[in-house]
Amino acid sequence: MGSMDLLAISGSLRPDSSNTALLRAAQALAPPDLRVTMYEGLAELPPFDPGLEPEAAPPVVQAFRAQLQAAGGVIICTPEYAHGMPGILKNALEWTVASGEFVDKPVAALSSSPAASGGERALAWLTQTLTVMSAQIVPEVSRPIPFGRSRVKPSGDVVDPALAESLRAILAGLAGAVEARAARAAQADLP
Ligand SMILES: Cc1cc2nc3c(=O)[nH]c(=O)nc-3n(C[C@H](O)[C@H](O)[C@H](O)COP(=O)(O)O)c2cc1C
Repeated sequence: MGSMDLLAISGSLRPDSSNTALLRAAQALAPPDLRVTMYEGLAELPPFDPGLEPEAAPPVVQAFRAQLQAAGGVIICTPEYAHGMPGILKNALEWTVASGEFVDKPVAALSSSPAASGGERALAWLTQTLTVMSAQIVPEVSRPIPFGRSRVKPSGDVVDPALAESLRAILAGLAGAVEARAARAAQADLP
C-alpha cells in the first residue's frame, strides 16, 4: 500500500476534550504510511444555509469540503450532548449533504463519554445521519468508547493499553476499507 490520508473530526470544542484526545492518540499511534490530519475548522463553519448552495458556500466551507475530498477515509469522534451529537458537528455534516463528499467515503464513527454508555445515543444519531448521506460506515471500526476521559489524557497520551490496541485496530480496519474502496474504483474503470 502507498501512503494514505485520513481526516479526523472531533465533535467537541472543549480545550481538554476526551474526543479530541482520542483522535490525537490515533494520530500518534498511526503507522508511518498513514497520515491522520486533525480537522481544526469546526468552530469557524457558519450555520448551514441551503440558500448559499452550492457555489456561494463560504471559503471555510469549501476548504472543509476539499479536505474531506482529499482524504481517503474519515474518523469522527463525537461526544453526546442531550442524547444526540453536538449541533456543531451536525452543522458541519449538513454542509456536505448536497456536495456529497461523504458519498461512499469509508468512515470510522466513534463516540466517547465519561459514562459507561460511551455516548452510544450520539453515535446512533451520527450513524443515522452518515447513512442517509451514503457514507460507508465501517462497522468493525465504529463503536462507542466508554469512560473516555479516564483512558486518555488531553495531550493524547493513552492511559489504558487496551484503548491503544483498540485505536490501532480502528486505524488498520479503516485503512483496509479505504484500500478496498480504491480497488473497487479501479476495477470499475476497467473496460
Ligand atoms: C451540554 C451537555 C450535554 C451533555 N449530555 C450528555 C448526554 O446526554 N449523555 C452523556 O453521556 N453525556 C452527556 N454530557 C457529558 C459529556 O459526555 C462529557 O462532557 C464529555 O466528556 C464530553 O466530551 P469531551 O470530553 O470530548 O468534551 C453532556 C455534556 C454537556 C456539556
